[in-house]
Amino acid sequence: MKILSRLFKNNKKWAAETCASNPEFFSRLVAQQAPEYLWIGCSDSRVPANEIVGLQPGELFVHRNIANLVIHTDMNCLSVLQYAVDLLKIRHVIVCGHYGCGGIKAAMADKPHGLVDNWLRHVRDIHHRHERKLNVISSKPERLRRLCELNVVEQVINVGNTTIVQDAWGRGQEVAIHGWVYDIADGLLKDLAVSITSFKEWDALQKNR
Ligand code: CO
Repeated sequence: MKILSRLFKNNKKWAAETCASNPEFFSRLVAQQAPEYLWIGCSDSRVPANEIVGLQPGELFVHRNIANLVIHTDMNCLSVLQYAVDLLKIRHVIVCGHYGCGGIKAAMADKPHGLVDNWLRHVRDIHHRHERKLNVISSKPERLRRLCELNVVEQVINVGNTTIVQDAWGRGQEVAIHGWVYDIADGLLKDLAVSITSFKEWDALQKNR
């Protein structure tokens, strides 16, 4: 119980195999990281950021939390975003939600889940904002899928609403924000086509939501 030996065994095997196929792999990464992308995704164990998009260590800067939320006062998420934009100079922020998200489901459930319900209230706010649009969908699973999508769009808007991104756009730094949904049922990504690259595009997106 005290030592998770299987994980250490896996780690040794992975390090050895990685080294064998690419001897410079670790020495190259020690020097620096220069990722082009920031991934903001769900903590769900079925949604491993790097694997889904086929990127190696060093290529994707990652922030994950339950239901992939970008909250205006979340210093953890904002610090990741600020470091990514200001210091790493990443070019793309990807907000990736997923169908079958337990967080989204829990947010809409009637039974309590403890502390996490406070975090998930943000999802309820989004549901409330889009209630009319959602209520016309008669199938509950379909309604939840749509809420997963609408949540991503809201988080794309939230990323664009930060002083971090607006300052970057203001000084002419290129930062694009994208909204995607991953389907755990088939492993495929769906682009929600809400990518924004400027204040003007952000403004249009938030007005048309
Ligand atoms: Co999730």
